[in-house]
Amino acid sequence: MTLTRKISLVTTLLYLLISTASPARTQTVRERGVDEGKMKVFVDDLLAKMTLEEKLGQLNQHRWSWGENGDSIRQIYQKNVRDGQAGSFLGLQGVAYSAEIQRIAVEESRLGIPLLLAQDVIHGWRTTFPTPLGEASSWDPALAEKTARVAAVEASAQGLHWTFAPMVDVARDPRWGRIVEGAGEDPYLGGLLAAARVRGFQGTDLSQPNTILACAKHFAAYGGAEAGRDYNIVDISPRTLFEIYLPPFHRAVEAGVATVMGAFNEVNGVPMHANGYLINEVLRNGWGFRGLVVSDYTAIMELQRHGVAATPAEAGILGLTSGVDVDMVSEIYHLELPQMVREGRLSGAVVDQAARRVLEAKYRLGLFEDPFRYHNAEREKTLILHPDHLQIALEAATKSIVLLKNDHGILPLPPAPGSLAVIGALAADQDAPLGPWRGQGMAEDVVSVLSGIREKLPQSTSVYYQPGYTLPEFAGEGLMEAALQAVDQAEAVILVVGETARMSGEASNRTDIGLPGDQLALAKAVLGRGKPTVVVLMNGRPLAIPWLAENAPAILETWFLGVRMGPAVAKVLFGEENPGGKLPVTFPRVTGQIPIYYNHRSTGRPPREDDFFSSKYLDAHWTPQFPFGFGLSYTTFAYDGLAVDRESIGVGEKMAVRFQVRNTGTRKGDEVVQCYLQDNVGSVTRPVRQLVAFERITLQPGEAKTMNFTIYPEQMSFYNSGMQKTIEPGQFTVFVGGSSTAELSAGFEVVAN
Ligand code: BGC
Repeated sequence: MTLTRKISLVTTLLYLLISTASPARTQTVRERGVDEGKMKVFVDDLLAKMTLEEKLGQLNQHRWSWGENGDSIRQIYQKNVRDGQAGSFLGLQGVAYSAEIQRIAVEESRLGIPLLLAQDVIHGWRTTFPTPLGEASSWDPALAEKTARVAAVEASAQGLHWTFAPMVDVARDPRWGRIVEGAGEDPYLGGLLAAARVRGFQGTDLSQPNTILACAKHFAAYGGAEAGRDYNIVDISPRTLFEIYLPPFHRAVEAGVATVMGAFNEVNGVPMHANGYLINEVLRNGWGFRGLVVSDYTAIMELQRHGVAATPAEAGILGLTSGVDVDMVSEIYHLELPQMVREGRLSGAVVDQAARRVLEAKYRLGLFEDPFRYHNAEREKTLILHPDHLQIALEAATKSIVLLKNDHGILPLPPAPGSLAVIGALAADQDAPLGPWRGQGMAEDVVSVLSGIREKLPQSTSVYYQPGYTLPEFAGEGLMEAALQAVDQAEAVILVVGETARMSGEASNRTDIGLPGDQLALAKAVLGRGKPTVVVLMNGRPLAIPWLAENAPAILETWFLGVRMGPAVAKVLFGEENPGGKLPVTFPRVTGQIPIYYNHRSTGRPPREDDFFSSKYLDAHWTPQFPFGFGLSYTTFAYDGLAVDRESIGVGEKMAVRFQVRNTGTRKGDEVVQCYLQDNVGSVTRPVRQLVAFERITLQPGEAKTMNFTIYPEQMSFYNSGMQKTIEPGQFTVFVGGSSTAELSAGFEVVAN
């Protein structure tokens, strides 16, 4: 049996098992103003004029080169554009260059088809916002929509039409560096943020020059990389795939995402760029996705390395027939596939279909009407780093901070201390706050934590800064002594520790997610001096910090917060803002607990202190250091009065839940109110609980709010042992509170209709 045949057998089998469960929904195409009928006539007409080479040329995406040999490479690319051999570019921005390449495409190629210019606009463009995992800590989809909107405004002002974002991969393994790019471990939170970011990038009308095509990536299960090693194989059950990894993609499709990117990994033996079942059957036919699918960087070529194609041509055939329309960088489609079509090994109709999708994307952006609408030097000059954008950067940074510990109310610090020691090179670093994938973000735009603190404090406060360790090595030799002297001089201490920007992100995985280098030794020495000390964590992924969690009186998780990191951290430290973020991902105590996530399925021997033969460790507690959804505030909140609307509902009905949240402290504060659901008994094991609703609210001291949440039938459903989506009658439990360990609960029953 050939390999291709084997793959198709496996996928057919999976399809039979699962497809009945996927409700056929049609994608909501959000853009207005595109007359689908007119577009079809236009594209039909254009396709009829195109040669096979020109069609395959549309499927070719070059990586623009600014490198040393840039000139000659650029000349080749320009020739390819003239010859109709390139449909899009990655990494070409700035009005001057982008307008020139567009001019060549439009004026010097035979059919004058405009190019698509794409780039990774992940968490801002020049105005850099918190990294996506950081921003997810805000639990504020409206904020995520706003920052994506600003990113689109700036990127489009520099000639870009297309971002490779949002990254919607669920990640349960913080060793994996790319956890920084997503929304964490939860499919529901991740799905709402995915949809919000799609709306932000694409707006409501893609033909406006300040909206860009979004791209949900990496389809699919990229976050499941075995051992947390990027690009590694993914071996997960269909249930986990469909219940955990796919839902955020589905949400992005429902929000109208225009493009989807394939994932580098294989899933259960089938490389994603050869996974016709997931791309053509689930994504397109099942969910009604009508946009284009782009490969990841050289991933078509990598099909050979996966060992599912013997030659580049075979890899190209496999990729294209599996539904990957655009070949990023491999240059296999346009170089190898014309011959394959001529030999009858690849159907011309498949090429036409993919070319149509590329042309439609260009049409939706309005590029056939005006190919130069994204190349406006005036917009470029006025919109980049616009003051309004910086204001949003400050809001996003402030809302993303999570207070992990605050013994004896040590925070907030008094607004005008006599003296303060700021320890840690990360405090003065203007690079780390940009995080990985920084677009056009520049260190010179960043206000560091140290500068933010200095700007906030009055002249009368003496601020003693000492790096304490080097960057990027985190070596303390020769620096610790001076740091301790500064500590001895000061009334209070801010200790900034964590990771550099490049310790997370693509290919940046770690086997030990503790504090790198000498930072723990520094922390022990600093805390040993007995001064009131606040630990500020700056990092891309969850860290394992058992010693700090035990011994530091106060800990703020600040991630990489972007250009306004310093002012945001300072506002929180000195009490002008009250932190209200919550963790979108579990923090383990030690690396060996990974994978650890809140929505795990029930086991037959759940961990118990008094039962040796239960599911736990000899050398660490089984619970996380900080659970999913956790975060403190300078005030306190109380939950009560939980009531379900009815004691029982029929299968397919929704359930209303009501309760009260009260600010029981003395400061105004934000609380992320969370609601979880457990299906008590199922025909297969179910998660111990799963997030089904949340809302970030602001309450004045003493103020109470009645919350009304709805639990939808979809959220009571699951895949049974036959992989059919079902809602089973029985008891459900609702939990509400301020984290995934919420205890206030109520039950209801679902009865057979
Ligand atoms: C990454 C993608 C990214 C692409 C283009 C790849 O290495 O996996 O996320 O969009 O490069 O920059």
